[in-house]
Amino acid sequence: MVWVSGDLPQCLHVLNDEETGLRGVIAVDSTALGPAAGGTRFWSYADSNALVADAVRLARGMSYKNALAGLPFGGGKAVLQRPTGDYDRTALFAAFGKAVERLGGTYVTAEDVGTGVADMRAVRASTSFVAGLDASGAAAGGDPSPWTALGVFESLRAAADLAGIDLSGARVAVQGAGNVGAHLCRLVARHGAEVIVADVDEARAQALALELGARTVAADDIFGVDADILAPCALGGILNDLTIPRLRARIVCGAANNQLAEDRHGEALRRRGILYAPDYLVNAGGIINVCAEYLGESTSQVQRRIAMIAPRLEEIVRSAEEQGLSTNLVADDRARKAIAAARCVAA
Ligand code: NAI
Repeated sequence: MVWVSGDLPQCLHVLNDEETGLRGVIAVDSTALGPAAGGTRFWSYADSNALVADAVRLARGMSYKNALAGLPFGGGKAVLQRPTGDYDRTALFAAFGKAVERLGGTYVTAEDVGTGVADMRAVRASTSFVAGLDASGAAAGGDPSPWTALGVFESLRAAADLAGIDLSGARVAVQGAGNVGAHLCRLVARHGAEVIVADVDEARAQALALELGARTVAADDIFGVDADILAPCALGGILNDLTIPRLRARIVCGAANNQLAEDRHGEALRRRGILYAPDYLVNAGGIINVCAEYLGESTSQVQRRIAMIAPRLEEIVRSAEEQGLSTNLVADDRARKAIAAARCVAA
């Protein structure tokens, strides 16, 4: 049975608690830069192989994301199987909190797809190695999604400038009208751009479209829609051999983690003349907020760090152009060097 391909993570912790139905893994990819930080995904997977493979890849993405964002954290991810039938959600997340506690601070968790602030409150009952709780006063905290959307929006604006597109007159296709996608649609609409939105939950997409005077398309049609920019804000693996030839957008810039099905798809986008904004670079706003909360920092420190995302994207796009490389390879190289440098200092 092949669970994990490519480099192995530093540690893989299996979670299996019959009493609450907690099943899943915590993947600690790297602690070279600090505790492994990354959210908890709560999703239905076809089998354990798919769950573990997702956790390992997402954890690696977190190592790269945290390193590029200049955060004193390594990368990790928890992926939990959503139980079928009835279950006590609070008890399940409290049991997960105990598992996080047992790792003694090696891994710090927060929200991801399928989890929210209420779940993190349940986790907090068992451990202090959690963020993404309620914000209070000027201190950082709360739902990371608006911060993620802000970093993506500022990146999208920078990418549009680089491509010579006026964002205020542009058409932006957003895949996923969830926590981040909805905030992003609002920012884009406020900027005067036309929003086209798709969600497998059609009612959700329609409600958002009604609020913003936007247009909806069927979930399968979002890739071929006539738009200047595609913003993937749903799940990963969506830039692949089937979707890339269909794209009409000149820029891909969105929040979803692991958008490229494989690294080579970054090159496929480059060959088609499509500017790809590396996902983990532009979607770092949420983890920046989570880490700031964990470290007891303020929202103004969060804003300062997020303001550095778009200039970092500009610099990586320019460097990729100069070297004739895809943007994802240049970003990966930067992240790996930052992690390796931390290992050298520690040795
Ligand atoms: P969410 O669960 O709130 O929203 C995802 C939305 O995508 C849902 O409305 C879902 O119905 C929709 N969806 C799923 N498959 C789809 C498909 N094939 N076509 C169209 N819509 C589809 O999740 P959230 O928090 O908005 O995150 C979105 C993405 O951004 C995820 O990949 C997540 O890992 C990533 N991300 C989120 C961060 C955050 O702060 N929430 C931080 C960094 C990354």
